Amino acid sequence: MDAFTIWFTGLSGSGKSTLSRRTYLEIKKRGLKAELLDGDIIRTNFSQELGFTKRERDINVKRIGFLSWLLNKHGIISVVAAIAPYEETRQLNRKLIPNYIEVFCNCPLEVVEKRDVKGLYAKARRGEIPNFTGISDPYEPPRNPEIEVFTDKETVAESMQKIISYLEKKGFLPATENNIDPTVIEEEERLLREHLRQLGFARKSW
Ligand code: ADX
Repeated sequence: MDAFTIWFTGLSGSGKSTLSRRTYLEIKKRGLKAELLDGDIIRTNFSQELGFTKRERDINVKRIGFLSWLLNKHGIISVVAAIAPYEETRQLNRKLIPNYIEVFCNCPLEVVEKRDVKGLYAKARRGEIPNFTGISDPYEPPRNPEIEVFTDKETVAESMQKIISYLEKKGFLPATENNIDPTVIEEEERLLREHLRQLGFARKSW
């Protein structure tokens, strides 16, 4: 089975982290090797020096693209959650990565702004965060995403169903879950949670 990169793009608060984490665990459940690259975590560990100008975002997004390409080359699936607001830059990654799958987490600005999980939209409206995506910086919707999920209308389970059935249909995932000892997955989840907590990224819902 070929490795692939599945990239969740969308506004902050559009469900990228939740869906990417679920997708990552589904992949692991089927006994495949995968890595989860979350924008916040990548920025803390790889791109600390970068801010949010177009130039800096492009560097960040291309860095994640190159890292995914490297992982894929060695048979490891890459699951990415990063805003990646510019179409042209996403297209560069699409060109670079042989099996590139884009998931557009489509959620209206009014909805993510009302949810404001991290309290960043309120800050951005007060002018405290420059270049904030959707408020004072653009988000260009993908032109040709492989998968589009409407996270204001669908449940997490419904969006996941779309994602997994696409991956199965295209032959990226075996149709049925391999007979894996559930404790292996529980351990995987525990390690992931612990790792995220250590990095300061634990979420209540996780
Ligand atoms: S990207 O544009 O370079 O792809 P990335 O996904 O890595 O962005 O980082 C986005 C995260 O950084 C957001 O989820 C949010 O927590 C945080 N953030 C801080 N400042 C900004 C900003 N100006 N615009 C968007 N996100 C920001």
